[in-house]
Amino acid sequence: MSGPNDNFDPKQVAALSVEAIDGFVAEALAAVGAATTTAELKQVRLEHAGDRSPLALANREIGALPPAARKDAGARVGKARGRVTEAIVTRQEELAAQELAAALVAERIDMTLPVEVRPQGALHPITSLIDEMCDVFVGMGWEVAEGPELEAEWYNFDALNLGPDHPARGEQDTLWVEPMGAGKLMRTQTSPVQVRALLTRDLPLYIVSPGKVFRADEYDATHLPVFHQLEGLVVDKGISMADLRGVLDHFAQAMFGEVTIRMRPHYFPFTEPSAEVDIQCFVCHGESGPDKPCRTCRSEGWIEWCGCGVVNPRVLRACGIDPEVYSGFAFGMGVDRTVMFRTGAPDLRDFVEGDIRFSRSAVVGGTR
Ligand code: DAH
Repeated sequence: MSGPNDNFDPKQVAALSVEAIDGFVAEALAAVGAATTTAELKQVRLEHAGDRSPLALANREIGALPPAARKDAGARVGKARGRVTEAIVTRQEELAAQELAAALVAERIDMTLPVEVRPQGALHPITSLIDEMCDVFVGMGWEVAEGPELEAEWYNFDALNLGPDHPARGEQDTLWVEPMGAGKLMRTQTSPVQVRALLTRDLPLYIVSPGKVFRADEYDATHLPVFHQLEGLVVDKGISMADLRGVLDHFAQAMFGEVTIRMRPHYFPFTEPSAEVDIQCFVCHGESGPDKPCRTCRSEGWIEWCGCGVVNPRVLRACGIDPEVYSGFAFGMGVDRTVMFRTGAPDLRDFVEGDIRFSRSAVVGGTR
């Protein structure tokens, strides 16, 4: 066994010789220069600057040198590694820039090429009108309430003062849902939402409720078995018919511009007194007649618009509200009909046949 090598010269460790280190650096720089992609450069980095690269291995030899020789060898290897790292960083920037430039050219989009225009959908005129109607009420601080389309008989009839033998029940052509006799039906009106709101919400109550209603009706130009209503309900202290009139005046003007409305006495079981509301024809302004016909109002001068009235105390009582303290008004109108006379669309069947040309052309605000 040889004794300690006190005169150890780092040059004696082959891997640490100036020539060897210079050789490693030269090889590394040549490889860096030869890399033509960042992926190739990554491989070069592993081979020439990674943990198992000649320079890293040479670095490990330093620890075996006598202390006096370590500084010199350490500085040499450190400088060599620094040069290689710097060359890699510079080349990395160059190659990344080249690759980006190439990608930008390869992936360039010609903005002037014609594109295939996809047909755009359109909101159904009923949907747009319901939105517009609700906006009028939300603007006055009311809330939008919804209820189920499959409804219980009690909400649709009983609680609204239409008892089992009430003649008005027969007028609604109810679609019953099996099992028969279980009291399930497709709601014939949006009025059951009044009851649901009265039972679940706090007073005072200011709500509108739009939605589908169902009746065993003919399918023709003026009838659909599924159509839409908008219901309104206010219950507060000191509410009267005058408040109802004010709200309907405002609503009619929001819908049709400067129009006059009139109220005619009518009967609804859930309101007392009740009225039917007509709007003066906004096309002929009531001036049509046999010699000057008007299609919009069929020359009647007025268009039937909605039913309304002061909430019947029986309805309030059915919902646990004291009619001595609270009173209210309600109204209900057909949305489909409103679209018809706002747009001049003559046939309700167009509303359900799903032809996009109908939705596009029936701009609901068109007659204003
Ligand atoms: N529910 C009634 C119908 O379908 C419309 C109606 C009339 C609703 C008067 C009301 C009302 O709230 O007060 O014919």
